[in-house]
Amino acid sequence: MSNVFSTTPLFAGQAQRIVDAGHDLRGSDAKVRMPRREILAGIVDAEGLLCLLGDRIDEEVLRAGRSLRIVANIAVGHENVDVDAARRLGITVTNTPDVLTEATADMTFALLLAAARRIPEADASVRAGRFPTWRLDQPLLGLDVHGKTLGILGMGRIGSAVARRGRLGFGMHVLYHSRTRREELEREIGAELVSFERLLEESDFLCVHVPGTEETRHLIDADALARMKPSAVLVNAARGPVVDEEALADALEAGTIAGAGLDVFEREPEVHPKILALSERVVLAPHLGSATRETRHAMVRLAVDNVLAVLAGQNPITPVN
Ligand code: NAP
Ligand code: GLV
Repeated sequence: MSNVFSTTPLFAGQAQRIVDAGHDLRGSDAKVRMPRREILAGIVDAEGLLCLLGDRIDEEVLRAGRSLRIVANIAVGHENVDVDAARRLGITVTNTPDVLTEATADMTFALLLAAARRIPEADASVRAGRFPTWRLDQPLLGLDVHGKTLGILGMGRIGSAVARRGRLGFGMHVLYHSRTRREELEREIGAELVSFERLLEESDFLCVHVPGTEETRHLIDADALARMKPSAVLVNAARGPVVDEEALADALEAGTIAGAGLDVFEREPEVHPKILALSERVVLAPHLGSATRETRHAMVRLAVDNVLAVLAGQNPITPVN
């Protein structure tokens, strides 16, 4: 029997699997972020830890878990975990790739469409009793999506799923810039690998799907935004710090680009006041990429699978280190 600590309440069926495997499950019943001191106290005798993106699992926490064998982050991103320290301490780190790819790609496309067709503005207008007469120069004229050029920054799992939606669903031409060439995908949907500069200059819709790393921080800065088309829309459902939020607000304000769909922010849960002040073709969501019932259940199931495998002396299913 091992002790498993979770910083978040797990769905009942998944919590039961841990208990049925003979382990003692402790942790949070609260729906708010667990304070750090509670994490530090809770993992002292835990061999398994289940945690969320908002939990900073740094070396101090890892060392406090003197018996810790696995940290299962319930997310695909894992910049909240000090993976190098975990490796040095012999602790396995796992994440939840693949199971959230399609939901996050759906959300990316929802933001893209909502910004292009101004859905939140339209909704607010109807609710406020403003139902303009049908006329050619509608106040809420939007942008065509079908047949346009879709740019993907970071052609990994989610980038590819968004690219397929664009090409197969909307007849878009797909350009991408990524660390690794994806020849199979190029053959499948005619995607074209281009320089970062060409991606910026030619995309009508630019979707960001690189992970949050030191290398990707502010990849989309004022200079990058200045290279984009004035009619372009930027969509970020990856990580806030990839985009310089102040520079983005300025570019939107100045009309350097036409719009944005943002699921993630530089200092979540804070959103730059200049971004909040913009409404035309700017659509905001509170980090909902994977937030569907089915996907969240699949993420927890995979995280629990990882914990049970490692505690049973087997290989983790989706290791990070
Ligand atoms: P992934 O499969 O690892 O894709 C990331 C891609 O970015 C990979 O192709 C990678 O190249 C590429 N890349 C990394 N650094 C780069 C750089 N400096 N320049 C160019 N390309 C670079 O990951 P994923 O599953 O698609 O997830 C992507 C990110 O989405 C996650 O890291 C997470 O931050 C975010 N996310 C957000 C939500 C949400 O709720 N909004 C949900 C899920 C995920 P290689 O192929 O060479 O590795
Ligand atoms: C969510 O942002 C994730 O990385 O899974």
